[in-house]
Amino acid sequence: MKFSWDAFPKPIVALAPMAGYTDSAYRRAVKLLPGTEGVVCFSELTSVAAIHHGSKESYRMLGWHPDEFPLIMQLFGKEPEFFVESGKILEDMGIAGIDINMGCPTCKVTSNECGSALLKSPQLAAEIVYNLSRAVSVPVSVKTRLGYECYDEKRFLGFCTGVVDAGAKLLSLHGRTRTQAFSGEANWDPIYLVKKELGVTILGNGDIKSVADAQMRLGTLDGVMIGRATMGDPWLIAEIAAAFRGEKYVRPVSMLEKLPLVRQHVRFAVEGSNEVKAIRELRKHLASYIKGFEGAKMYVEKVMKCDTLAAVEVVFDEIEEVLKLK
Ligand SMILES: Cc1cc2nc3c(=O)[nH]c(=O)nc-3n(C[C@H](O)[C@H](O)[C@H](O)COP(=O)(O)O)c2cc1C
Repeated sequence: MKFSWDAFPKPIVALAPMAGYTDSAYRRAVKLLPGTEGVVCFSELTSVAAIHHGSKESYRMLGWHPDEFPLIMQLFGKEPEFFVESGKILEDMGIAGIDINMGCPTCKVTSNECGSALLKSPQLAAEIVYNLSRAVSVPVSVKTRLGYECYDEKRFLGFCTGVVDAGAKLLSLHGRTRTQAFSGEANWDPIYLVKKELGVTILGNGDIKSVADAQMRLGTLDGVMIGRATMGDPWLIAEIAAAFRGEKYVRPVSMLEKLPLVRQHVRFAVEGSNEVKAIRELRKHLASYIKGFEGAKMYVEKVMKCDTLAAVEVVFDEIEEVLKLK
């Protein structure tokens, strides 16, 4: 059965797209946790121009495992025809939906008129959604921010209306402008306003760090999307998903309890990949996992020097041995 945002059970808990973090290995690790069947993972952003030009690295980034379903792949770019081309490729791969990045604040992306720069070109943004959503049968969604330089209610509502009228079935809204990047506090009021005015399915995003934050922020929305707080703590996603079902998830507290999932994450990362490259890319995850016990800093330093799965496993074995003796 085709995935549909309308029919999907609410409230939705979603893992935010994060370049360099939410790759297939991390998404699979999240989906291993109990009660995460209904969690929706968003992929890192992939360039439609790079896909068009046959970039091997971009095709590698599109790799996914059925355990990640329902997976939403995120694309960025500015050429409607490239979105159509990439969308068809993704549809053939069996993913659940396609998300269009209209929120990325980095200069590398915006200087090319992509990502959050599309907030300045509402007509092009709507054209991209219109063309893509008519070319594929999976739902198309948009992730964006409150504005480019500043928040202007009329402009923001106009932008959201434009992409929804063009065919977007869901909006993920981060309560900051492009200028704010990640500074200050996310403003959720405009997000509730879009829900009230447009009625479309909405995920609210920005600064959720706990179950209490998620429950407090949900309000009239259809779900929440969590990003940075999951770095080194994928268990937070399972905890929030359980809380939304009215259940309690007993999260692992000690490093010893966390290690089995961390080990699995590393194994997923090297599966079918260049091992040295995969381990190096994983270092940031490892640094955020290894914490909260005496000597953690020393083990982080050790793992930062690892280049192979076997070397990482040796560090994990050492951690396990030391913690078991305590
Ligand atoms: C390292 C990093 C990478 C990100 N990459 C993406 C991305 O590829 N696509 C996207 O739409 N947003 C991206 N974001 C933004 C997040 O999806 C999210 O909107 C933002 O972090 C706010 O949510 P949070 O407070 O829960 O982290 C990224 C954020 C971070 C910190």
